Amino acid sequence: MRIFILTIALFVINDYQGKILDAAYTYGNLNVILQVPNGISTVENPHRAELNKVLWCQANEDANTTLPIDSVLYRHEKTNQTFDQTTTPPVKLDEDRAVLNFTGVPLADILSGKYVCHINTTNDTEIHGNQFVYIRPFFHFNDIEAKLSQDDEPFNVIGTTLSTNKGSTVTFPCPAAGGPNLTVTWERNNGLPEKHQRNGFDLIIPEIDESDEGEYRCIATATVKNETKSPEYVLEATLTHYLKKVTSHIVDEGSGLSDDAATQTEDPNYKLLSEA
Ligand SMILES: *[C@@H]1O[C@H](CO)[C@@H](O)[C@H](O)[C@H]1NC(C)=O
Ligand SMILES: *[C@@H]1O[C@H](CO)[C@@H](O)[C@H](O)[C@H]1NC(C)=O
Ligand SMILES: *[C@@H]1O[C@H](CO)[C@@H](O)[C@H](O)[C@H]1NC(C)=O
Ligand SMILES: *[C@@H]1O[C@H](CO)[C@@H](O)[C@H](O)[C@H]1NC(C)=O
Ligand SMILES: *[C@@H]1O[C@H](CO)[C@@H](O)[C@H](O)[C@H]1NC(C)=O
Ligand SMILES: *[C@@H]1O[C@H](CO)[C@@H](O)[C@H](O)[C@H]1NC(C)=O
Ligand SMILES: *[C@@H]1O[C@H](CO)[C@@H](O)[C@H](O)[C@H]1NC(C)=O
Repeated sequence: MRIFILTIALFVINDYQGKILDAAYTYGNLNVILQVPNGISTVENPHRAELNKVLWCQANEDANTTLPIDSVLYRHEKTNQTFDQTTTPPVKLDEDRAVLNFTGVPLADILSGKYVCHINTTNDTEIHGNQFVYIRPFFHFNDIEAKLSQDDEPFNVIGTTLSTNKGSTVTFPCPAAGGPNLTVTWERNNGLPEKHQRNGFDLIIPEIDESDEGEYRCIATATVKNETKSPEYVLEATLTHYLKKVTSHIVDEGSGLSDDAATQTEDPNYKLLSEA
């Protein structure tokens, strides 16, 4: 009789322990939304993640019990890039909590989208959980000048205005950043010239002629959230470039049109004009 009871008790204890093991789970913030003040970030003065913008996770046994962490690794799903104590941004342990801390990191350097937090607890439980980073689209400029348009939309950016020689090739940059699902489309009111090409996000127009003049808009979109529990939706940022005047010679803005006859050059120069 005694033996029978003991057997039952052991079975119950084993079963209970098994459930504890299965029940260990990662707990943390579901996502972080990195705020972007406007559409223009520059290498010299980049948009950066604000203080305490972090992903954090921990191992929970139940709602009130965390398990100590033996090792932790954050992995960015799309690129497989991993983050630990030695990376930028670093993963820091704060008691039983692992924190991937984006504070101060330029937004253009932050991978958006899904991260997986992998935790090994000190008693050999291996668990993981998914978290997301959202960054609304913006433009991160290297060297060209840009300014905000005069409407009240801080994500409408004015890029270059240029005049160029007939026959030359123009490249309009679109240094879009943000995400996940960052995509770039180009538009012109009367349609893009058929001969246009893409180099990544940039637009290339070869063999320029007068019919190519116009307003070229790069529209960058990304899937974002505005609040941590709100649904995903798509936000855009627009960068507009102008191809003002196509001539058979270089236009000098200061002295007006040169009356120099057609000077076709092998290596066509173009001048970047900044609007008043
Ligand atoms: C893991 O360790 C914690 C205490 O460190 C303990 O409460 C828990 O029961 C252990 N879980 C397993 C599955 O061994
Ligand atoms: C993140 O890093 C910043 C700067 O190093 C620090 O001030 C802040 O306390 C950290 N936040 C967390 C939650 O660890
Ligand atoms: C966790 O703690 C709260 C209050 O301290 C209690 O109400 C709740 O029942 C506990 N949950 C578990 C799973 O122990
Ligand atoms: C957890 O342990 C497994 C098996 O030892 C190992 O392959 C894995 O890399 C460890 N994960 C972390 C986050 O250290
Ligand atoms: C990431 O790693 C997994 C497994 O290690 C592999 O299946 C996948 O192809 C990798 N993805 C990339 C983008 O390298
Ligand atoms: C964004 O991309 C992910 C995969 O990377 C996909 O599952 C999701 O549906 C996409 N969302 C939108 C709105 O395109
Ligand atoms: C967040 O986006 C939703 C649409 O998905 C919108 O209804 C809501 O007003 C937005 N909230 C803020 C604070 O912008």
